[in-house]
Amino acid sequence: MITGVDLTEAMLKIAQKRLQPFSNVCLSLQNVICLTLQEQYDLVFSYGGVWYFVIDGDKEPFLVSHLPSDMDNCQGFAQLAKYVSAGGKLLLGIQGPHYDYEKVIVNGMKYAQKVTACAEGFIKDYYLIDGTETVMAQTIHYRTYSFAEAQQLLATYGFQYQPMEENNNKLFLEFKKL
Ligand SMILES: C[S@@+](CC[C@H](N)C(=O)[O-])C[C@H]1O[C@@H](n2cnc3c(N)ncnc32)[C@H](O)[C@@H]1O
Repeated sequence: MITGVDLTEAMLKIAQKRLQPFSNVCLSLQNVICLTLQEQYDLVFSYGGVWYFVIDGDKEPFLVSHLPSDMDNCQGFAQLAKYVSAGGKLLLGIQGPHYDYEKVIVNGMKYAQKVTACAEGFIKDYYLIDGTETVMAQTIHYRTYSFAEAQQLLATYGFQYQPMEENNNKLFLEFKKL
């Protein structure tokens, strides 16, 4: 069985549509901070979800979290750890760095994003602009952890980093649940 979780109903609706052909998928509206599942899993992954790694060129990876508070990150990983079997894997997706840009999207509106560094991470402002009118604006605070901090944080909940092999496809960083 594959279980997918997200905090937002709208995202789950998109997932439901895309995953319709698969009968072994179950989707659930959940905040990872108080994640509750019915069973343990051998593999848990997040690609562009609550947690992911950013690798900027040949610099060390750093962890990005949608949860700005350290306490929430601890609670989220603690909950997640409950549902990963011993010897199971946690895969966290790898993305490129965030940067400012704007582009015209299919409906002719302009999408723009602006990234500002702050004490414990960065703030991202998102805009949807129709001509001279801003039809949507959203600001999200992201928490970041250096690679050493991330490994330490994950180790607290039993996840040990598994260094990548040379020919790995580099979509995810892998952690083993001890
Ligand atoms: C950048 S979106 C990516 C969604 C999807 N993975 C994709 O690639 O299209 C990040 C997702 O994390 C979800 N999210 C943020 N905080 C969360 C939380 N505390 N618990 C569960 N999901 C959360 C958001 O609702 C959002 O759908």
